[in-house]
Amino acid sequence: MKHDQKGAEMTTDETAPGGNKPGPLPFDTTKAHQARGYDYLLGGKDNYAADRAAADAWLKIDPGMAFTARANRAFLGRAVRFLATEAGIRQFLDIGTGIPTAGNTHEVAQAIAPESRVVYVDYDPIVLAHARALLDSSEAGATEYIDADLRDTGTILSRAANLLDFTKPVAVTLMSILHAIPDADDPHSIVAMLLDAVPSGSYLAISQFGEELMPAEAREALLGSTRRTSLQQYTSRTREQVARFFDGTDLVEPGLVPVEEWRLDPGAGGEGKSVYWCAVGRKR
Ligand SMILES: C[S@@+](CC[C@H](N)C(=O)[O-])C[C@H]1O[C@@H](n2cnc3c(N)ncnc32)[C@H](O)[C@@H]1O
Repeated sequence: MKHDQKGAEMTTDETAPGGNKPGPLPFDTTKAHQARGYDYLLGGKDNYAADRAAADAWLKIDPGMAFTARANRAFLGRAVRFLATEAGIRQFLDIGTGIPTAGNTHEVAQAIAPESRVVYVDYDPIVLAHARALLDSSEAGATEYIDADLRDTGTILSRAANLLDFTKPVAVTLMSILHAIPDADDPHSIVAMLLDAVPSGSYLAISQFGEELMPAEAREALLGSTRRTSLQQYTSRTREQVARFFDGTDLVEPGLVPVEEWRLDPGAGGEGKSVYWCAVGRKR
């Protein structure tokens, strides 16, 4: 599929296998939602029986899933900290925000640079219901929330321009969201369109379920279980496929690694192995 400057075209039901319907997510408590299942794995309370049942089934297949969720959240914190300090970024476009929890992007960034501006994007009504917590900006900075589907990329970019100055560097963060975009919706074009919209010196940060990080049998069992229980369907991607999201950027050290290995704080680590690849790249 081709994405033009006006907006990424969205797939129809027929071309979105596994029921990943494009557009705002319905509020459905009979099926697991990604945002609510992740909240459960992180020990939150904004989840329903279907989310807990789905996540418990994943935990049976891979008891390390809760570690993966925590390690991913910790990576988000370290990446935003790096972006606000060493990279000097003051504008963030955080797509796939999730239910607010400890260490939201604006909190981490504004603790370092209060003037930071953060635009959040998610398409789940439960995240929208909690958006107030994300709008709690420092006085010097600003935050905004956009209720939109990542696949509606043109709309996100035009609405984000109300707060972000796209002539200055922006960090685009896509943490634990791209595996919810099926190949049929061409996630590489979506990421390329986001990178096209930001100037040189901008950053891209991604975490995504990694094909090689879980044995094939467990991965198939997990994806199969998700097909039966979840509204969103997931696509694991190889290290090479994840690396291609970063075309046109230079990866900062340590490159593309599992989330628990990216710029660990001294003395931290060794608690487990996640199933997510991650990297941070600087646009050339
Ligand atoms: C697992 S949560 C990750 C939250 C946060 N980024 C983190 O890493 O801690 C993924 C979020 O992406 C959102 N999401 C998934 N597909 C999306 C899409 N196509 N458009 C917008 N948001 C999406 C889900 O609703 C969910 O809130």
